Amino acid sequence: MQKLAIQGGARLNGEVRISGAKNAALPIMCASLLSADDVRLSNLPDMHDVATMAKLLQQMGVSVALSPQAATFNAGHVDKLEAPYDMVKTMRAAILVLGPLLTRFGEARVSLPGGCAIGSRPVDLHIKGLQAMGAEIHIEHGYIHATAKRLRGARILFDLVSVTGTENLMMAAVLADGVTTLENAAREPEVVDLANCLIAMGAKIDGAGSDTITIRGVDSLHGAHHRVMPDRIESGTFLVAAAATGGRITLSEARADILDSVLDKLREAGARIDVSGSHITLEMLRRPAAVNLRTAPYPAFPTDMQAQFMALNTIAEGSAMVVETIFENRFMHVQELRRLGAQIDVEGNTAIIKGCAQLEGATIMATDLRASACLVIAGLVAQGETIVDRIYHLDRGYEHIEAKLSALGAQIRRI
Ligand code: UD1
Repeated sequence: MQKLAIQGGARLNGEVRISGAKNAALPIMCASLLSADDVRLSNLPDMHDVATMAKLLQQMGVSVALSPQAATFNAGHVDKLEAPYDMVKTMRAAILVLGPLLTRFGEARVSLPGGCAIGSRPVDLHIKGLQAMGAEIHIEHGYIHATAKRLRGARILFDLVSVTGTENLMMAAVLADGVTTLENAAREPEVVDLANCLIAMGAKIDGAGSDTITIRGVDSLHGAHHRVMPDRIESGTFLVAAAATGGRITLSEARADILDSVLDKLREAGARIDVSGSHITLEMLRRPAAVNLRTAPYPAFPTDMQAQFMALNTIAEGSAMVVETIFENRFMHVQELRRLGAQIDVEGNTAIIKGCAQLEGATIMATDLRASACLVIAGLVAQGETIVDRIYHLDRGYEHIEAKLSALGAQIRRI
């Protein structure tokens, strides 16, 4: 199993290009199922989840032509309307084929995702929404089996904000008969990026980015070219790493307008941040100050940045309270941080972190994608060597992270 060996203490310095967003690329790849024509995506990140999604689509009969940072998908000859268990269990986002398959072909069989390291993560809202649009759904042998002659527009109110739930139902609605309104919809920028691609394919969508999205169904969609938006979580991860090491870095091809809550917290921690077009520069000239945070749906502070800020707080001046409101089991990095000497108490969904002057290198284990990023950041500031085990989690969702960190001066190698 591959590991990362990190020699702590180097300040990050230099410029790094931000990749296309994983959480935009995955739903948009699924959107290619909605048309018989070519859908060409550029700025596609090179990472395991994208490769897994491409493989899943290929298994269904989609032709996939990959080139560096781009791909063309053609769903003109889909012959298998199924996402099997072994795919869905490695990548929950595979649930995103459900809406497109059902609305275009009238049938879909998608494995239930099952348990997940960061919480139970059910898909009941996806199912309820499709039922409201007239789908017949049976759960059999661990699979969701959905059928519908043609979905019909409906008014759907989400009990809680779900990103992939919003995306699945938006994709289902674009080919439904009539108008669908999604209320209490997710406002995440990735939902907007998906909507923009669907609109380029001929869909009629209003309100993406607000909590009410209106979709007027059309009979068919055509091909399109779409450039995947920059990854705001990768951006935030590099900024936190630079802040933790007392460095100065510039992100290129990034978007500051979708990072407000993260940039605010970094400023509160003492970082100087300058934004110029698609460049974001962060400079940290002091020991970070502890920052309290509470995760919540966009535009509030993202749960996908909670672990990285936890690493920052472990070496900050003062104490911080971190409240996780989205996932019930997203503090698994805490035990590993403690192995480096961090002082953290957890009570339910709240962690109290008492900043210490120095972490000490040790062997630690990655447990999920963003927890892995947190451990890498901790390794960058810990004294001596830190070995991060099980980095396959990291490879799922970060493009060439150790190469990018090395180029910024980090002492990091894969073993
Ligand atoms: C997406 C992101 C993930 C991010 C999360 C929250 C992708 C591929 N993944 O995940 O990186 O951490 O948003 O920003 O975009 N829930 C239900 N029933 C449902 C659906 C969700 O109870 O049918 C609950 C979940 O258990 C969770 C909360 O709703 O507690 C939010 O989950 P959701 O927004 O759906 O997360 P994902 O879309 O899976």
